Amino acid sequence: MHDALALTPSHAARAPVRGAGRIFGPARARTTRPLHDIGPRSVAPSFERDVLAGLAQPRKAIPSTWLYDRRGSELFEQITRVESYYPTRNETQVLQAAAHEIAEAAGPRAIVVELGSGSSRKTRRLLDALDTPQAYLPIDISSQFLHASVAALPSLYAGLRVMPIAADFTRIESLPELTLLRAGVADRGRCVVFFPGSTIGNFTPEAAVALLRRIRRWAGPDALLIVGADGTQDPAVLIPAYDDPGGVTAAFNLNLLVRINRELTADFDLDAFRHEARFDAQSRRVEMHLVSRRSQRVSVLGRRFDFSAGESIHTENAYKYSLHAFEQLAARAGWLHAQRWIDGQARIAVHVLEPVAGTRGPRGMVG
Ligand code: TRP
Repeated sequence: MHDALALTPSHAARAPVRGAGRIFGPARARTTRPLHDIGPRSVAPSFERDVLAGLAQPRKAIPSTWLYDRRGSELFEQITRVESYYPTRNETQVLQAAAHEIAEAAGPRAIVVELGSGSSRKTRRLLDALDTPQAYLPIDISSQFLHASVAALPSLYAGLRVMPIAADFTRIESLPELTLLRAGVADRGRCVVFFPGSTIGNFTPEAAVALLRRIRRWAGPDALLIVGADGTQDPAVLIPAYDDPGGVTAAFNLNLLVRINRELTADFDLDAFRHEARFDAQSRRVEMHLVSRRSQRVSVLGRRFDFSAGESIHTENAYKYSLHAFEQLAARAGWLHAQRWIDGQARIAVHVLEPVAGTRGPRGMVG
């Protein structure tokens, strides 16, 4: 969920593989348990580095990944239930309607990998429809929230191996869990990458293409990618969705400052900043900002940062893609359109994509 910040070299670093062997432990392997934490999977993501560098820029910005600590994940879960936040509601409807066709495309024994799984609520629609899914690998940056969210799943789906992965999915270069699950198994089951919630819109188009390319590499040639993308362009719908009257979204955005104060010994005055959502029709994105109400100086880890009145920290983008625009973006990353569904209000699309050089389907011959 990187927005205004370009990916730094560390984001692109290769992920050393460690601890993966722990998947296949004792015989009771079909229960949920932590595999490993964020550290071993890549160069350790650094909140400190991203905040200090982000605040030192002429246009202050912090990558949106950091919005999702435990409290942030809880607040986002609340946003999904807010009346004016239509994306979750509309996408859930689409998934409900599409589940059986998606399940048919996926086939039996699917391995479902979810990116930014959050509460894993939507996943249930998919798991319910699939023919004996083999494994569920939810990936989320909020380790505590992740484990709490999936704790009940093994008891609900007999035979489903649930393997939560606490990691920043934007940095994943390889997924050893997937390789191990499929090693030496004749009836392998298809890898179904589930990427709902319009999270793809939280990347710049360039970063989105880079991410989709990387997914194609680790998911393998017979993967199926299910992505939810919002195409809404009407500010009268967008602004209340990203700045709800009850202030849940404001609290979610401001929680970033609470987190900085706590984890990076800083002195942000929460009353001196306000949440703002803007729609930029040109770039077709909603921007989230934390706007300074007055001129002020803030200290973070002993470093001082000056704000003028009205100056903001850019904390998130939500790009809105038409069906065509999204399919073009996916094609640049080597994913071909297979199927798509859209909700009754023509806002949220669920795209089903296959790798260009895929081994399945009639169109899988292009390099
Ligand atoms: N993926 C969500 C979206 O783009 C994220 C989101 C919703 C969000 N509301 C937000 C992020 C408010 C920051 C602030 O819709």
